[in-house]
Amino acid sequence: MFGCNTPDNNVKSSILGTSPLMSQNIEKKVDSLLSLMTLEEKVGQMNQYNGFWDLTGPTPKDGAAAKKYEHLRKGWVGSMLNVRGVKNVRAVQKIAVEESRLGIPLIIGFDVIHGYKTMSPIPLAESASWDMEAIQKSSEIAALEASAAGINWTFAPMIDISRDARWGRVMEGAGEDPFLGAKIAEARVKGFQGEDLSASHTIAACAKHFAGYGFSEAGKDYNTVDIGTSTLNNIVFPPFRAATKSGVRTFMNSFNELNGIPATGNKMLQRDILKGDWQFNGFIVSDWGSIKEMINHGYTKDGSSAAETAVNAGSDMDMESYLYIKNLSSLVKEGKVEEQVIDDAVRRILRVKYELGLFDDPYKYCNYDREKEVIGSKANHEAVLDMAKKSIVLLKNNRKLLPLKKEGQKIALIGALANDKNSPLGSWRIAADDNTAVSVFEAMQQYDKNSLVYAKGADVSLGETGFVTETKINTTDKSEFKEAIDVAKSSDVVVMVLGEIGFQSGEARSRTELGLPGVQQELLEEVYKVNQNIVLVLNNGRPLTITWADKHIPAIVEAWHLGSQSGHAIAQVLYGDYNPSGKLPMSFPRNVGQIPIYYNYKNTGRPVEPNPDIVFWSHYSDQKNTPLYAFGHGLSYTSFTYENVIVNKVNSSSYSPEIKVSVEITNSGDVAGKEVVQLYIRDLFASVTRPVKELKGFEIISLKPGETKTVNFELNSETLGFYDNNGEWLIESGEFEVFVGGSSDNTIKSNFDLE
Ligand code: NOJ
Repeated sequence: MFGCNTPDNNVKSSILGTSPLMSQNIEKKVDSLLSLMTLEEKVGQMNQYNGFWDLTGPTPKDGAAAKKYEHLRKGWVGSMLNVRGVKNVRAVQKIAVEESRLGIPLIIGFDVIHGYKTMSPIPLAESASWDMEAIQKSSEIAALEASAAGINWTFAPMIDISRDARWGRVMEGAGEDPFLGAKIAEARVKGFQGEDLSASHTIAACAKHFAGYGFSEAGKDYNTVDIGTSTLNNIVFPPFRAATKSGVRTFMNSFNELNGIPATGNKMLQRDILKGDWQFNGFIVSDWGSIKEMINHGYTKDGSSAAETAVNAGSDMDMESYLYIKNLSSLVKEGKVEEQVIDDAVRRILRVKYELGLFDDPYKYCNYDREKEVIGSKANHEAVLDMAKKSIVLLKNNRKLLPLKKEGQKIALIGALANDKNSPLGSWRIAADDNTAVSVFEAMQQYDKNSLVYAKGADVSLGETGFVTETKINTTDKSEFKEAIDVAKSSDVVVMVLGEIGFQSGEARSRTELGLPGVQQELLEEVYKVNQNIVLVLNNGRPLTITWADKHIPAIVEAWHLGSQSGHAIAQVLYGDYNPSGKLPMSFPRNVGQIPIYYNYKNTGRPVEPNPDIVFWSHYSDQKNTPLYAFGHGLSYTSFTYENVIVNKVNSSSYSPEIKVSVEITNSGDVAGKEVVQLYIRDLFASVTRPVKELKGFEIISLKPGETKTVNFELNSETLGFYDNNGEWLIESGEFEVFVGGSSDNTIKSNFDLE
């Protein structure tokens, strides 16, 4: 059994902004509407279609689109996805509301993953800010724009923990750590849903993908997941628990099977844990076609049994499998699915529609003036710029090469990505207009007291910047190397923007090689031969293996895919107008062979053997155990010293522990800066072994040069325990170590005992 007796599973899924009286009213309304519905209409609410046809054109006469129109009119569609823009949403809503028998409004879903049209950084990048206020704000802006375009439900946040940079979808998540991941889940849910879900600028969030998707074997998307109860409870679940606690209104299940049972048909996950233990009262949508995919998994033999299995397991809405609409009514009539299972699903869906206020005004998100005014506003661009700056991580800065001098310098800017206005928009940017990001080249031109010369050096992709496949990556054309080398030769400093184009990460973008794609590594090495003053700016959606660059290149800036304002954010950091403070949310491996690599690993029985001649210990014979850059790593233009960790045992009983930890941090450099102070613990001996370090607190502080601040943390029954293999939350007496620092691999330590 998973997830029972947890410290936090007594969740009353309170509806944001909804008083108990209002919720009672909603429940009454849901019941009375349900009593009017035919079985077919109920099943209709559980059916979600993709909107691919031109909704405002003439109605197609036959084919799939015609069928969808017909189903809308019959009240057999509860939701649509990928219909966007006031005109289109109005058109489809009008059919549901004005032409179907009961006029139940549609809930309109869309992948608002990191912005709608004004793009903020990809979620992995935002996670590097460790700034919950900023992340919440970014989700607010996304909700603001999406809701102005008719959308009232986002398929976000994606909160799958992953330790595998091969998996392209790490760009959508919060990285490898469950504690940070849980905080980010909470911030995003609050950002999307706001204080009042019925307001017209907030939208329902969707915690996805439940569960285990980030542990796809070998980092290959959609692949099998086989993990133990400890990993599931302690690593995978925390962000989902946090999202539930924050009142997230929907969940999405996942494509993967988990320990032999596809998540979509997994009763333990959906009915027992989520709807049972965690008392989640919103609804669960399947992932795209995942009900049908259970046939491929070898779990159900046909569409009818797939529908039966999914609905009985707790999947409330079918995204694009067509299997609920096709089979559920007959399954009820045959007695294979109880009507109360259908009623429960429909109740959940209607509840969320009522909470959104769709029954009061189905067109509340369909205001043309608001659409014009809100989407792409100056304020939204300012907000995503702020988020972009906070997301940048300074990985390395030798010889104080950064920040760049603002005058009298000859600067060579090299790399196709430096002049790319599309890539920075990242993956998952369906509503963004192509080529609308500010490029690094554009932004650097504003620092006009230097001379700036741009040379592409080489294309990353041959012709395409859209959904590029590996076969389109430029692995041969080096014809423009020479120009770049010449420019570099005569410059004081070279800024090279290299990495992945926007669509090289994301769904179905798993990779087995994580170096700089195509000929970029060779370009870097060739340029280095003529000028070693290189600042490498990385654009990427996942950790890359940049071991050569780390060894040779003096300054490295992790700039991810930073969204619409990318170039400005990067230029401001390069020139020191913004002092970077980002910290990695995911370890950077030295090579692919080290994957999965993560900071919160277990110790093993043979952890360390400094003598190189001794073979039999847990290590590789050709590579170090440590990552290239650790979780939590990130530099600043100033430096910080950590001193005096003091542990105060307010209550050292393992029944109700309260341990205060304080630490002094001083800005020991000569400019003001922000630091993300991180607190880790290690439970030294436990009935189920614990990781060598676990993040349990963090705080961002700003310090002027020479200034010292004391940061206080508290450890208690929510942070000092763990789930055992039966899903029981345990806090055990014994020795603990506590570490504080600016990175998981750079900490000072103290200890305490629990009795
Ligand atoms: C499949 C993806 O896995 C999911 O995250 C997304 O929300 C749906 N497609 C809808 O686009």
